[in-house]
Order: sequence, then C-alpha cells, then structure tokens
Amino acid sequence: MAFPKNFLWGGAIAAHQAEGAYLEGGKSLATCDVIHGGKGRIAEILDPAAIKTNIAKQEGYFPEHIAVDFYHHYKEDIALFAEMGFKVFRTSISWARIFPNGDGDPNEAGLAFYDSMFDECAKHGIEPLVTLSHWEMPVSLTTKYNGWASREIIPLFERYARTVLTRYKNKVRYWLTFNEINMTLHMPFMGAGVIVDNPAQKKQLSCQAAHNMLVASALSVKACHEISPAAKIGSMVAAMTAYPYSCKPEDTWEKTRMERENYYLTDVQARGSYPPFVLKLLEKDGVKLDITADDKKLFAENIVDFVSFSYYSSSAVTTDPAIAGDKGTGNIFGGIKNPHLKSSDWGWQIDPLGLRIALNFLYDRYQKPLFIVENGLGAVDKVEPDGSVNDDYRIEYLREHVKAMKAAIEEDAVELWGYTTWGCIDIVSASTGEMSKRYGFIYVDQDNDGKGTLRRSKKKSFGWYKKVIESNGEVL
Ligand code: BG6
Repeated sequence: MAFPKNFLWGGAIAAHQAEGAYLEGGKSLATCDVIHGGKGRIAEILDPAAIKTNIAKQEGYFPEHIAVDFYHHYKEDIALFAEMGFKVFRTSISWARIFPNGDGDPNEAGLAFYDSMFDECAKHGIEPLVTLSHWEMPVSLTTKYNGWASREIIPLFERYARTVLTRYKNKVRYWLTFNEINMTLHMPFMGAGVIVDNPAQKKQLSCQAAHNMLVASALSVKACHEISPAAKIGSMVAAMTAYPYSCKPEDTWEKTRMERENYYLTDVQARGSYPPFVLKLLEKDGVKLDITADDKKLFAENIVDFVSFSYYSSSAVTTDPAIAGDKGTGNIFGGIKNPHLKSSDWGWQIDPLGLRIALNFLYDRYQKPLFIVENGLGAVDKVEPDGSVNDDYRIEYLREHVKAMKAAIEEDAVELWGYTTWGCIDIVSASTGEMSKRYGFIYVDQDNDGKGTLRRSKKKSFGWYKKVIESNGEVL
C-alpha cells in the first residue's frame, strides 16, 4: 500500500472565499472585501487608485461579501465532508473576525464562531488544518500602516496568533502561518495588504513586506511550540515547476533563477536563514531590507515542522525574446506556455508529473515532511436538468495527480503527510472573483453576481473522492 495508514485525505478552503457574512458577528471590513470580481480582478488589485476608491466607498458587487455563506452553512458543509470520509479539513481564520481593527480586545463572537466550527469537525472525526493568514487582514491595517510594508504590524499579528493558538490549543493540531507567502512578491495587496503607489517601489515594498511576514511567521512558530507542544506548524508556498523551453544553458539558468526567487522565503522558514544568493540579488536590485540581528536569531531558532504547498500547473521558461511573449493565461509566475501540455478553461497548464517533480524538489531541498494543501481543477460545471453535475474532467485531473503523489511516496520515498484538494466545496475564485471557476465536489447554487439559492448538491466527483479515501488511494 503506497499511502501510509494515517494519511490525511481531505479538502481546503479559505475564510474569505467561503464564509461571506462580511460584517456579521463583529467582523470588520477586510482587504479581501474591497476587490471586485471578474477577469480584471488582478489588474484591479495592482491599481492603487482603484483599491483606495474601493476602501473609501464600497460600490458595486464584491464577491467575498456573500461568498458561499459558509458562515451560516458550515454544519451542513462539514457533514458533507464527513460523508466523503475527510480526515482533515483546511480552512483559515479571518483576522478581522478576531481583531476587527487589528488591535484592542479580541472579539468574542468571532472566537466563538471558530470554536463551534472546530467542534463540528471534531464531532465528525475531522482534523482541522488552520491557516493563520490567507490573503486578508483588517482593512484599517492597510490604511493605517500600508499593511505588511510596516513592521508595526508584527506585534499585532503576534497577538492575534497567540490569541487563536491559545484559544484552540485543544482543538487544532495542524497550523500554517501564511498562505502562499511567495505571492506577496507578485501581488502585494492581495498577499500583504500593501498598496504600491509608485511602481518603481514595488520590489522594495513587497520584499520588505515579505520579510516582515517572515518575522511574524517565526514568532507564530515560536508561539505554537510554546502553547501547544504537540501541535505541528508549517509554511505554505505556491510551488512552481518550470521546464527550460530548450536545452540552451541560458534557459536552464533562467529556470534556476526563477526557482530560487520563488522559494527563498520558504528557505528562511524551513532552513532558518536567507540564502546568500538572494541577499546579493536584492542588493543588485537596489532593495534595502530592514533585517535586524534579532530577526536573524528568531529565524534560526524557529523553523517550521513541515512544508506545505499548493500545486495546480507548471510552465516553461526561456530567455529567447521571440518565444517569451507566449505567456498563456492565468500565469503570475512569469513563465511561458508549454506546447506539450493541455490547459484548463482558465489557461492553467495541466501537468500531473509536475506535481511529482515538485514533491521531489521540495523534499530534496528541505528534508522535511510535506503536505499538499491545494490542488485541483477550476472548471465550468454544467448542471443537468435532473440536477446532476458530471464532472469527469475533474475526476480525471485529480486521479492523475493522486497517481503522481503515489509514485512520489512509493518510488521516491517522499514523506507526505496529507492531501487537501482546493475548493472541496465551490467557493469564490481568488484570482478572478468568479463563482463560475469551480473546484468543488459539492456544487453551490450561486452565480458571478451573487445570485442563487446557495443550495448545496453533490457532483459526480463526490462519490469518486469518497471511494479514493475509503480505499486509502487504492481505488482511483
Ligand atoms: C491559490 C490560493 O493561489 O490558488 C487560493 O491560495 C486560490 O486562495 C487558489 O483560490 C486557486 O486560484 P483561483 O484563482 O482559481 O481561485
């Protein structure tokens, strides 16, 4: 049997993409609540004027305000996860529910909500895997400090982390610090609440924000180990598998360069220090990082217990300007289209072997247990007149990725703790804000304009995944 007996099968969501109830239970406006939906979403979050306008005045439809109303449906949804046999359920805590303004006293109604959600998981024998911060923060921290660009936010986050680590110490055994920390470098507002007024400042601001998040991440690891010695706390990175477009040495060098940039933040979290090449690179780019001696000591003494990652697709890299224009869509890493691969409806290239490569790469690099905390296919689902959704394309995608995991465990001896597919119930897409980009085993009747009954129904993949879990990955 390839998968260990205690392998953690399950699914994942994030608070802001699922909960809705954006001003209920004492929650304040969060950064994710001020971004409109639609194909232009990425452009909007990169436009400082648009973000400031949205913060000042919420006009139009913001998908995270309702999302799929998990806030009021979590009991029904967790029961469905249990029916599939989930061993683990990944979600995040909304910082703005716990500290609506980022400071002051914790909000009891917010804390009680997660108490009840984790109790519901326990009732069904499901382990919660909780991300402390998944692309959101109280919006006042952006207006007051420009988000993670300021070190002022570090003690506020530490207070938040200690509050929830203490409150849920008997309910949560698996924690993650920051979701896809490397994405801060590409999308500073979404990842870190940072508004970049002058594009020339993007690198300086985003690298400093990422550094401040690393300090907060290490403080969270320290707090977790003190408060809950039996719990495990991990890092989370968007994994990148990229192939040199040709065998020209320059293309391989380009791949190496991109890879090193992609993983340097995880290097700090999992190895305890900045890799020397990155300090050189930042110096060359004119970035002046405010790193203190205490930061360095903190990093060295508080490395994570495991490395978690998301994996959806791969890309190719080249230095040839004639080919470099062909980027494909949905690509924020900067790679180009690989002619050997097929793409999803949103242009993400499908590559199960790329997952095995990522697993091996990360295991070689960190020698730490791994956890795949996001993987899946965002697709348009058609509801048949009888209400069924025959999502064979999703089954096919997941089957091939599970096979890749299996090979990595069985043949490559990678230590993998678990697998949570992304958007196990349909949720709002992070990159486009659309509901029509669906990942779930459970269909939610809600459209791109926030209209629908929010009724839940099982797709064909629901029964498929149930069998996968029942057979511990033997029946695919
Ligand atoms: C990851 C994020 O980057 O990808 C999730 O951690 C996100 O929040 C997921 O939803 C899939 O991306 P999208 O844009 O299809 O929702």
